[in-house]
Amino acid sequence: MLIIKVGGSVITDKSKYLAFRNPVMDRIAEVLSHIREQMIIVHGAGSFGHLKAKEFDLPGRISERTLQGMNIVHTDVIRLNNEVLQRLRSHGLNVSSLTPFSLFNGRRNYSLMRRLISLGVNTVSHGDVYVTRESVNIISGDTIVRDLARLFRPRRVVFMSDVDGVYDRDPKKIRNAHLLRTVNGHVTVDGVNNDVTGGMRGKLNAMFEISRYAGETVLMNGFHPERLNQIGTERFIGTIIGTK
Ligand code: IPE
Repeated sequence: MLIIKVGGSVITDKSKYLAFRNPVMDRIAEVLSHIREQMIIVHGAGSFGHLKAKEFDLPGRISERTLQGMNIVHTDVIRLNNEVLQRLRSHGLNVSSLTPFSLFNGRRNYSLMRRLISLGVNTVSHGDVYVTRESVNIISGDTIVRDLARLFRPRRVVFMSDVDGVYDRDPKKIRNAHLLRTVNGHVTVDGVNNDVTGGMRGKLNAMFEISRYAGETVLMNGFHPERLNQIGTERFIGTIIGTK
């Protein structure tokens, strides 16, 4: 099994509300359509989630405002999900989409996803909002990937991000930062864009944890999806995360 997280910063312009990058998702879908292994695709929310989440104080305790924000963000991420599904379908990928908002009643519940996966169905899920007893929560795609990796122990988990991989220093600030082919243990990343679900530091920590459950955990650039086919070869541009 392969789990692929497609970052919101890849398929949307994170600074512009509701800006979907159709051609980028199309190229990703084309590459994925050649994979003959069971797949779970999880996408982030990008500018369909983070901007309004911030505006409406999410995550936060239940209030008129956070409930209103919940509805807006969920409606928007469903729009993004639909765009993603259309691109996948246009390349012949037939998938079931499972939306956390409707699956998670207080707790994160993966029973339906488990059932569909056991039937051999390829599934899609995404970062979303959901309601708990006291609050409106945000679930990031990374957390979904972590939960699924723990449940299904996939052969490989791939994070498609807007960077080539993990660098020894912040490549957005330092010109001759080096791309690391592998990272083990903890590396320090100085504050690359922080957002409501933790920014790059949070993502790296999540990836380290995931590497304990997956055969291989990889960070690569989603703007070059063809690199997916080069994982495991000398030519691969990206970073293998973890100790294996
Ligand atoms: C965020 O999901 C979910 C919401 C803000 C509703 P992610 O954290 O997975 O999204 P990206 O990949 O950072 O955009």
